[in-house]
Amino acid sequence: FDRGLLSGKQVFITAGPTREALDPVRYISNHSSGKMGYALAEAAVDAGALVTLISGPVNLPAPPRCKRIMIQSAEDMLEASLQNIDQCDIFIASAAVADYRPVSVAEHKMKKGNEEIMELHLIKNPDIVASVAAQQNKPYTIGFAAETRDVISYAQGKLERKNLDLIIANDVSRSDIGFNSDDNAVTVVSHEGATQLPLSSKRQLAHKLIEIIAAAEQKKDH
Ligand code: PMT
Repeated sequence: FDRGLLSGKQVFITAGPTREALDPVRYISNHSSGKMGYALAEAAVDAGALVTLISGPVNLPAPPRCKRIMIQSAEDMLEASLQNIDQCDIFIASAAVADYRPVSVAEHKMKKGNEEIMELHLIKNPDIVASVAAQQNKPYTIGFAAETRDVISYAQGKLERKNLDLIIANDVSRSDIGFNSDDNAVTVVSHEGATQLPLSSKRQLAHKLIEIIAAAEQKKDH
């Protein structure tokens, strides 16, 4: 592993879940542990990058030598991601952002009523990685795609729709990979084609992904 691979590059990485508040004590979220994003942050630091890790609530310590910003909601994550985005060379979106949030947050804890069925009204969250890719001076932008079926074709759809440079397709229908596991197996999908990476630890996989991302970003620059 080349420790100068990303020397001098600013890399922003989103990681973990977001929490969308319903009231002061409840929220909507998902099972992301942050392991994949934190492993990528460590690997990018190992490659010499200046790393900003924008993290949802997770039980992981901040990786050494990286700047970590802790956030709760998708709206917070968007704000943190766009701060200093003009200085960012590579943006990696590994966070599992909630697609929707409650339309309003109750000021006080919601009380149980007599009705058996309760309806929640949700509104779409901003798309963070698409907002980054829409910036005038767009960084090299990489997304993840968590899918349970037709993994590659859905990933290709997101690559195009969100104007990304690369997307890392993750089959999350398997319990041994994806959300919360220590291992992962992914397919890197570019506008040119797809490369499958075999099952390995998220730490090993992160180093491989950083090599691929650094090479692809270099190629784009020249
Ligand atoms: O955290 P771990 O437990 O280690 O698990 C890792 C992981 C499975 C969460 C990770 O590898 C992964 O696949 N992350 C993306 C999960 C996801 O929400 O994918 P998506 O297909 O819904 O979103 C596609 C892309 O758009 C992602 O890069 C996502 O960060 C981004 N997005 C989505 C919605 C939104 N409002 N804003 C976004 O930026």
